[in-house]
Amino acid sequence: MNLCKINYSVFIITVTLSILYGDPCPSKCTNCDYDINGQVTKVVCQDVQIQTLPNSLTELWASDAHQPSIIPLGKFQTYFLTGKTQLRILSIRRYGIKQLVNGSLSICTNLIVLDLSDNLILSLPVGIFHDLNSLKSLNLSKNALTSLDSSTGLFSHLRSLTHLYLGFNKLTRINNSMFRNMTGLSQLGLESNRISTIDSDTFQAIHSLQTINLSNNTLTNIQSELFKGLSKLLRIEFNGNLLQILEQTTVIEPSVRLISLSSNKFTEIPTGFLQHLQNIQTEVNLAENQIRNIPAGSLDKIHLQKLNLSFNLIEFIQFNAFSDCTISELDLRFNHLKSLQKELEGNFLKINTILLDNNTWTCDCSLLWLVEFIKINQSNHSDPVCAEPVQYNGKTMISIATDLSSDCVPTTTQQSTSTQKIMTSSAGTTLTATGKIQISGPSQMTIEIGQIIPGMGQENSDGKISTPQNHPTSRRTTILVSNFTILPIPAKSETNSSSTEVHDSSSTNVGMIVGISVGVISLITVTTALVKFQPWKKIGRFNRVDVKNVE
Ligand SMILES: *[C@@H]1O[C@H](CO)[C@@H](O)[C@H](O)[C@H]1NC(C)=O
Ligand SMILES: *[C@@H]1O[C@H](CO)[C@@H](O)[C@H](O)[C@H]1NC(C)=O
Ligand SMILES: *[C@@H]1O[C@H](CO)[C@@H](O)[C@H](O)[C@H]1NC(C)=O
Ligand SMILES: *[C@@H]1O[C@H](CO)[C@@H](O)[C@H](O)[C@H]1NC(C)=O
Ligand SMILES: *[C@@H]1O[C@H](CO)[C@@H](O)[C@H](O)[C@H]1NC(C)=O
Ligand SMILES: *[C@@H]1O[C@H](CO)[C@@H](O)[C@H](O)[C@H]1NC(C)=O
Ligand SMILES: *[C@@H]1O[C@H](CO)[C@@H](O)[C@H](O)[C@H]1NC(C)=O
Ligand SMILES: *[C@@H]1O[C@H](CO)[C@@H](O)[C@H](O)[C@H]1NC(C)=O
Ligand SMILES: *[C@@H]1O[C@H](CO)[C@@H](O)[C@H](O)[C@H]1NC(C)=O
Ligand SMILES: *[C@@H]1O[C@H](CO)[C@@H](O)[C@H](O)[C@H]1NC(C)=O
Ligand SMILES: *[C@@H]1O[C@H](CO)[C@@H](O)[C@H](O)[C@H]1NC(C)=O
Ligand SMILES: *[C@@H]1O[C@H](CO)[C@@H](O)[C@H](O)[C@H]1NC(C)=O
Repeated sequence: MNLCKINYSVFIITVTLSILYGDPCPSKCTNCDYDINGQVTKVVCQDVQIQTLPNSLTELWASDAHQPSIIPLGKFQTYFLTGKTQLRILSIRRYGIKQLVNGSLSICTNLIVLDLSDNLILSLPVGIFHDLNSLKSLNLSKNALTSLDSSTGLFSHLRSLTHLYLGFNKLTRINNSMFRNMTGLSQLGLESNRISTIDSDTFQAIHSLQTINLSNNTLTNIQSELFKGLSKLLRIEFNGNLLQILEQTTVIEPSVRLISLSSNKFTEIPTGFLQHLQNIQTEVNLAENQIRNIPAGSLDKIHLQKLNLSFNLIEFIQFNAFSDCTISELDLRFNHLKSLQKELEGNFLKINTILLDNNTWTCDCSLLWLVEFIKINQSNHSDPVCAEPVQYNGKTMISIATDLSSDCVPTTTQQSTSTQKIMTSSAGTTLTATGKIQISGPSQMTIEIGQIIPGMGQENSDGKISTPQNHPTSRRTTILVSNFTILPIPAKSETNSSSTEVHDSSSTNVGMIVGISVGVISLITVTTALVKFQPWKKIGRFNRVDVKNVE
């Protein structure tokens, strides 16, 4: 009777305390869950003695042991888990575990998830995982494993295992004996180890493998049959290795959607390899390599969803680099591109999205086609910023498109398809030509071509007329000049334009035709008749300039 009363009052007190002070979670634990009988089933603890926790646990999440006594000498022994047969999830991170004693996990036959990551484990005893028949996920990342006793099949009893994480250890070698019997494994993490070679047959047995991460190792090559037969494979990550080439014969099953090869040592696009990829939905990442250019044909017959070439050193794309390819998205950001030839426009139309930001674009007339292309197709492409010329520095292509096209489309003279005559004898006649004009004749003479529009060109003492450096270069134009004046070079002080004033234009009838090719360097080719000419005399003056577009 008395006992009952005492029990009853203890019950009342417990309930009252629970109400007043919240859940009776073990000390240092938060987030406890209970079953319908009030038994603790899940605890999330820091720095707790594992063996003092209730046996009813199905989930134990422990981390950050600060007391060295919690796992004495870093040895994880059988008694830590005594009685905890119900455990389905066991996660013990940052507990300073150095060693797992054989049998210490054998009680946990119901375990589904085991996470011992971020400890100091150096090696694993054979048989440590032998009883974990239900285990699906094993995380051993961030330990100090140097080798796994592969010959005896450390993991080969883990028939249910689908996820295995061994990243951030010190493994140097892996081979197929490590993965024997692991037919159900789908995710394999081996990143940030010191693996430098992988035998061709290493993953052969892992038929269900879907993703493999071998990033941040020291691999210099990939065996061409490493992935052969892995018909479920989706993602292959090899970022941050030392790869320079990939054999054309490397077998990649059509299931693969991502091949990530960023931060390696590629100096050119592995064309043969890419051409062998059979799935148009595949994405290939070659970012952060040392690729300098894209030669003609290097993307031909490549059919991909995405090709990432960002953060390379690409300066140059040859004009038919990707004339026959299907790529939905091409990332060329953060390269060293300044200009692209207009001939690439047709190539560009084959690509849904092209990202060209963060290059050093020179937005001059030779790039007008791209600026217009971007403007017209702006919904799909990025809007890159120009670096040069100064007036467009920091401005986006779309924002300068109108200005640039008016810079580059000259006055009426160029719009006429037929040859147009410009009479220089009439005052104010101008020769309109865009771009760098460099006109050279025999030395010691000046060739006068009407009036050079201010800012368009300037006369140099060597008889050349060239535009200021930052002036947009032009589309290709040929200008035919006839009946021109040749003047002796003016004295240095003589900067007065009077020296180029019109003189008696009828005094000569040279009838000479000189072709000026205006481009990056344009020349007036002076015909042989000119040689007969007396260049040191002021002889005559041209009165006609024919301007003709050449496409
Ligand atoms: C390690 O433990 C497993 C299972 O508990 C057992 O089968 C095996 O014999 C043990 N190995 C050694 C070397 O004690
Ligand atoms: C494995 O452990 C690492 C280190 O604690 C952690 O970052 C990672 O998220 C874990 N992976 C999984 C799938 O739980
Ligand atoms: C594969 O698993 C079976 C039982 O599941 C086991 O008998 C066999 O020894 C395992 N193979 C290896 C190489 O460990
Ligand atoms: C696999 O590597 C281990 C060392 O990590 C070695 O003992 C074993 O003989 C190798 N197995 C094969 C088949 O090469
Ligand atoms: C690469 O691995 C090393 C250790 O092997 C590690 O210190 C480093 O953080 C890793 N880098 C990345 C980007 O994961
Ligand atoms: C693969 O490993 C790298 C390097 O540690 C990491 O950055 C990347 O996120 C990992 N990939 C996946 C899918 O986990
Ligand atoms: C290409 O790779 C870079 C660097 O890895 C990344 O920042 C970028 O988002 C990727 N581009 C696309 C389109 O995924
Ligand atoms: C723009 O991109 C979308 C999706 O990427 C694509 O369906 C569409 O055809 C593209 N448009 C053009 C004009 O390329
Ligand atoms: C890259 O380009 C984008 C868009 O033009 C810009 O917003 C960003 O600041 C640039 N990033 C760097 C690092 O220059
Ligand atoms: C993209 O621009 C070009 C002209 O530069 C044009 O021929 C093409 O049709 C445009 N594509 C789309 C989808 O607007
Ligand atoms: C050039 O000479 C003319 C007279 O021949 C004079 O009117 C003009 O002011 C001079 N210009 C310069 C820049 O000296
Ligand atoms: C050169 O100019 C003179 C006078 O302006 C003209 O009579 C003559 O026909 C011109 N010669 C040619 C080849 O155009």
